[in-house]
Amino acid sequence: MLKALVLYFSVYGTAKKAAEEIAKQTDADLMEIEPAVPYDSNRDHYNALARFAKKETDSNARPEIKNHIPVEDYDTIFIGYPMWWYTFPMIIYTLFEQYDFSGKTIIPFNTHMGSGDGGTYETIRKLAPKAKILKGLPVEMQEAENGAEKNVRKWLDRLAI
Ligand SMILES: Cc1cc2nc3c(=O)[nH]c(=O)nc-3n(C[C@H](O)[C@H](O)[C@H](O)COP(=O)(O)O)c2cc1C
Repeated sequence: MLKALVLYFSVYGTAKKAAEEIAKQTDADLMEIEPAVPYDSNRDHYNALARFAKKETDSNARPEIKNHIPVEDYDTIFIGYPMWWYTFPMIIYTLFEQYDFSGKTIIPFNTHMGSGDGGTYETIRKLAPKAKILKGLPVEMQEAENGAEKNVRKWLDRLAI
């Protein structure tokens, strides 16, 4: 496999942990999707973040991405995010609208607290119709905190990329 990119958005650090594990096991490059306006990562302020994220979802917001994502440099791109309000954070819409994933292989993964992927892998199929979307990996938050090493290994073995 050519060098892949593991791209992730994470506020509390669990999707980041899963991303790091995937990058480690695949020897891929790792990059964060950085919001222009940072989210409050203090877990004691969960309710405020929940309210803020709900407003973004309800208003169909497109939070700005601060960094350039070198999509053109990779054929295979893992894309990871947490579940927010039963879908992915709105910044993931920004990503798909701002960058062209045609001809790329996308491998989604996400962290969650019970919603699994919440249908987001299917949404990615619609947002990037000319990309090949491989089977994704939903990782429960606690498991992601612990590294998710075994499940990531099993999943990668099955993907056989
Ligand atoms: C605003 C907000 C909304 C969330 N909504 C959901 C949800 O709908 N379903 C779910 O399973 N988990 C939900 N969660 C839990 C997160 O998906 C989970 O904590 C995840 O591991 C956070 O990823 P991060 O550490 O990379 O930020 C929500 C968390 C936040 C902060």
